[in-house]
Amino acid sequence: MDLLTIHGGKRLSGTIPVSGSKNAGLPVMIASLLTDEPCIIDNVPHLDDIETLIALLVFLGKEISRYKDRLEIKSTPSLYAEAPYELVRRMRASIVVMGPLLARLGRVKVSLPGGCAIGGRPINIHLDGFKAMGADLKIEQGYVEMTAKALQGTAFHLDFASVGATENLMMAAALAKGRTTLINAAMEPEIEDLANCLISMGAQIKGIGTETITIDGVEKLHGFEHRVIPDRIEAGTYMIAAGITGGDLTLTGVIPEHMKTLIVKLEQAGVKVEAGDGRIAVYASRSIKPVNIETAVYPGFPTDLQAQWVALMTRAEGDSSVTERVFENRFMHIAELQRMGAEIQIRGNTATVVGGGTLSGADVMVSDLRAGAALVLAGLAASGETNIHRIYHLDRGYEHLEEKLSAVGAEITRSKE
Ligand code: EPZ
Repeated sequence: MDLLTIHGGKRLSGTIPVSGSKNAGLPVMIASLLTDEPCIIDNVPHLDDIETLIALLVFLGKEISRYKDRLEIKSTPSLYAEAPYELVRRMRASIVVMGPLLARLGRVKVSLPGGCAIGGRPINIHLDGFKAMGADLKIEQGYVEMTAKALQGTAFHLDFASVGATENLMMAAALAKGRTTLINAAMEPEIEDLANCLISMGAQIKGIGTETITIDGVEKLHGFEHRVIPDRIEAGTYMIAAGITGGDLTLTGVIPEHMKTLIVKLEQAGVKVEAGDGRIAVYASRSIKPVNIETAVYPGFPTDLQAQWVALMTRAEGDSSVTERVFENRFMHIAELQRMGAEIQIRGNTATVVGGGTLSGADVMVSDLRAGAALVLAGLAASGETNIHRIYHLDRGYEHLEEKLSAVGAEITRSKE
């Protein structure tokens, strides 16, 4: 296993190019299951989660070649309806193959993903949606199996604006009979990116970026050529890196509109942010003001930046509170931050971060992707050496992490445990 070692206390300065979005790229790759025609996807980051999905799509019958950031996906004569435990357990996002496979083949069998470090993460909303569209469903031996002669469009209210369920149901509805209306749909930029890709395949979708999405099913969808949007969470992580090190960073290849809430919160914390065309410049001083946040669905403060915000607030000049409202158990980073000297109390889903302290390097362990990002940020700000273990979580979602940080002045190296 690899280990990251950071010698903290360096002020970061320079330019970081932002990669394509993991969470937009994954569903766009899955959309290729909706057609037999070739699909080309650009701006696909080199990440372990992308490799996991490539393996699953190949298992299901696709042929995939990669040229730098471009994926070319072709079909073979067979499309397989089963996603096995071995592949789904490696990445929950795999369950989004359910919608396209059910719509294309009238049958699908997918391993249930189980819980993970950030909570139970049930898939009831996905399944209720498919049932509402006429699917018969049974759960046996850890697998969910669904059949539907023809999926029927319907009006379906999502109890929570789930990103994955919106993606799954939107793709199924694109090939269903008649009109599907998704009420309380997710509005994340990744949903918009997928919808734009589906439209380029010939899907009839209205209401993108709102909480009511209307999809009129079509008989057939075509191949596509699509460029994945920039990764707003990667960009946000580096914006916070500028904040926590009192540095100045310019991020290129971003869509500032996707980052509005973070920009407002950073400005409240006393960090100067200048957003321009495809770039964001962040200038921070050594003094950070305490700012409370509550995570929420888009356009609220993203849960995927909550851990990083906690790390930033350990440097603030006063106390702040951070409330997690999307996941039930997303505070695993806090015990590790405490090992670095942070003073944080957790009550229910709220963490109170005591400001004004200092962080010191320690050996810490990553529990999930964004917890790992928070530990990297803390390591950058801490005095002395931080050794971050189990960084395979980081490799799932941050492309060229140590190269990008080294290029702007961080002292960060990877080695074998
Ligand atoms: C997506 O996960 C992202 N993953 C997550 O990013 C992100 O944190 C999350 O959306 C929220 O923004 C991908 O896009 C691949 P949800 P997803 O369904 O779709 C509950 C990262 O670090 N829920 O919107 O799985 C669920 O338990 C990752 O990059 C149900 O109760 O998230 C959670 O509390 C982690 N029943 C909440 O909704 C369901 O059927 C939000 O989950 C589905 C979800």
